[in-house]
Amino acid sequence: MKKIGVLVSGGGTNLQAILDAQNSGIIKSGKVSVVISSSAKAYALERAAKAGIPGVCVSRKDCVSKEEFEERISGALSEYEVDIIVLAGFMHILSSDFIAKYKNRMINVHPSLIPSFCGDGFYGLKVHEAALAKGVKVTGATVHFVNEITDGGKIIMQKAVCVKEDDTPEILQKRVMKEAEHIILPQAVELLCADKI
Ligand code: GRF
Repeated sequence: MKKIGVLVSGGGTNLQAILDAQNSGIIKSGKVSVVISSSAKAYALERAAKAGIPGVCVSRKDCVSKEEFEERISGALSEYEVDIIVLAGFMHILSSDFIAKYKNRMINVHPSLIPSFCGDGFYGLKVHEAALAKGVKVTGATVHFVNEITDGGKIIMQKAVCVKEDDTPEILQKRVMKEAEHIILPQAVELLCADKI
């Protein structure tokens, strides 16, 4: 059984999808052992508490440097003996040193079909605003390994979602989460935990 560490910054619907998948048996080769949040206010921490999973807050503001921020995160990951890291709405770019330490053991979910609408500056609603501005008829989500290029690591899984005529960025964001992110992220987590990728 692999120990999973989930890094979050916000609402934590992807964390919830992982926890639900654990309960329903979609994830059976791993177990979330800690949730690390970069914000004390993140609702994701409440979701962790409700599920009886330890939550740790490491705020960038409380650290004098990025090095200290990452050291504290690494400290929590070692304390809980984490094997696999899932970035689920984690809003910070990690250094190449940190990334190298968890090579092939850290994955991220991005709300577009990479290589469209990804890379530096494409996060949150901005991704969906860009998709609507371009007028694409299909978008989706991607789960990929994390490497030193933002959203540039090897693709593990993708799922397409149709764009509708009167979509707003908010409506599209919700549909991409529900129909793609929340489905492929748990599936990818299981594949990684089961050593199938
Ligand atoms: C998701 O859209 C995810 O793809 C992106 O950040 C958002 C996080 O949402 N990386 P949540 O906190 O999981 O609800």
